[in-house]
Amino acid sequence: MSAPRIVILPGDGIGPEIVAAARRVLDAVGQFSYSEHPLGGASIDAHGRALTDEVLRACREADAVLLGAVGGPRWDTTDPDAPRPEQGLLGLRKGLGLYANLRPVRPSASLLGASPLREERIAGTDLLVVRELTGGIYFGDSGRDGDRAHDDCVYTVAEIERIARVGFEAARGRRRRLTSVDKANVLETSRLWRETVIRLAADYPDVELEHMLADNAAMQLVSEPARFDVIVTDNMFGDILSDESAMLTGSLGMLPSASLGDGGPGVFEPVHGSAPDLVGAGTANPLATILSAALMLRHGLDMPAAAARVEDAVEAALARGVRTPDLAWVGSETPPMSDLPGEVEVGTEEMTAAVLDNLEG
Ligand code: IPM
Ligand code: MG
Repeated sequence: MSAPRIVILPGDGIGPEIVAAARRVLDAVGQFSYSEHPLGGASIDAHGRALTDEVLRACREADAVLLGAVGGPRWDTTDPDAPRPEQGLLGLRKGLGLYANLRPVRPSASLLGASPLREERIAGTDLLVVRELTGGIYFGDSGRDGDRAHDDCVYTVAEIERIARVGFEAARGRRRRLTSVDKANVLETSRLWRETVIRLAADYPDVELEHMLADNAAMQLVSEPARFDVIVTDNMFGDILSDESAMLTGSLGMLPSASLGDGGPGVFEPVHGSAPDLVGAGTANPLATILSAALMLRHGLDMPAAAARVEDAVEAALARGVRTPDLAWVGSETPPMSDLPGEVEVGTEEMTAAVLDNLEG
C-alpha cells in the first residue's frame, strides 16, 4: 500500500510553525507523502491570487489536506477588488465541496482551570458543532452600490438536508441529542431551515431534536455548555458559535476542525486564525493543529487507532503540566500560571516535544 498523500497548506502568520509541529507528530504515527503549497496571503504574494488552480488541483488529487491558517494585516483591505487571503480558504471549501464542518469541543481535564467559565459550569462539556460551510451569507450575491452594500443569505432545501443529515448521524454516534440553531423568528432562510430539519427528523426517531434561536444558543453556551451534544447550524451562526465554543476550552488554541464533503479529500485545520502578532515568537500553541491532524487520521485517512494515539498523547502532555502562554488564565482572581502548582510555561517546540514523548516507544 502506498503512503497516503497529504497536501500541506501552511498559509500565513503562525500557519507554517504549527503545521510543521503537526507534521512531526504525523511522522511519529505513520508514513505519509507530503506536498506543500501556498494559500492565502502567501499565495497572493507569489501569484496575485489567494488560491491558484494548481493548488486546488493538487488538493483534489490528495487523500487529505492539512491547513494552517490564512490572513494577516499585511493583506487587510476594504478595497472590494483587491485579493484577500480568506478568499483562498472559501475557494478551497467551495472547490472541494466541503459542506460539513465539524468542530468538536471537549475541554481537556487538565485545562478545566484555564476556561473562562467556572469549573463546575464547564465540567462535563462535550459537544460537536456541525456548521454548514458552503452556503448561506458567505456565498450569496454581494456587492456595493454607492453608499449601499448587500450580502444575500440563500439556502436551498437540498443544502439544508445534507447538513442536517450530518448532524443527525453525528448525534446517533454520540448522545443522540441534536440542537438545530437558527433565527426562525426573523429570517426566511431560517424558517426553511427549521421546516426542513423537522421533516428529516422523521428519519431519526432515535435522536432527540430541539430548535434554538441563535442568540439564545450563544447565551446557553456560556451558562450551561454541558447540556449540548450536537449543534447543527448555518454557515454564519456556526462561525460565531464555534469561536465561542472554542473559548470554553480555555483557549482558541485548542480547537481542531474537519471539513468534509461527499467522498473526496477533506480539509483539516485549527479553528483559530493566523495570529500575526505571535509570528516568530515560538510561543504559538500547536495543539489545535495537532488535534486537527488527529481528525485527519480519523475522518480523512481511516486511521482511527493512530488518531486516538495522537489525542491521548496531547492529553498526556497537558497532564504533565506544560502550557503555552495562551492557556494561561486571564481572570483576576487566579494567580499567574507560573504560580500554579505543576504548571510550566513552554513554547511551540517544547509543547510539540511533550506530545512526541508520549508517542515514542
Ligand atoms: C473560520 C474562519 C473563516 C470563516 C474566515 C478566516 C474566512 O473564521 O474558519 O471559522 O469565517 O469561516
Ligand atoms: Mg471563524
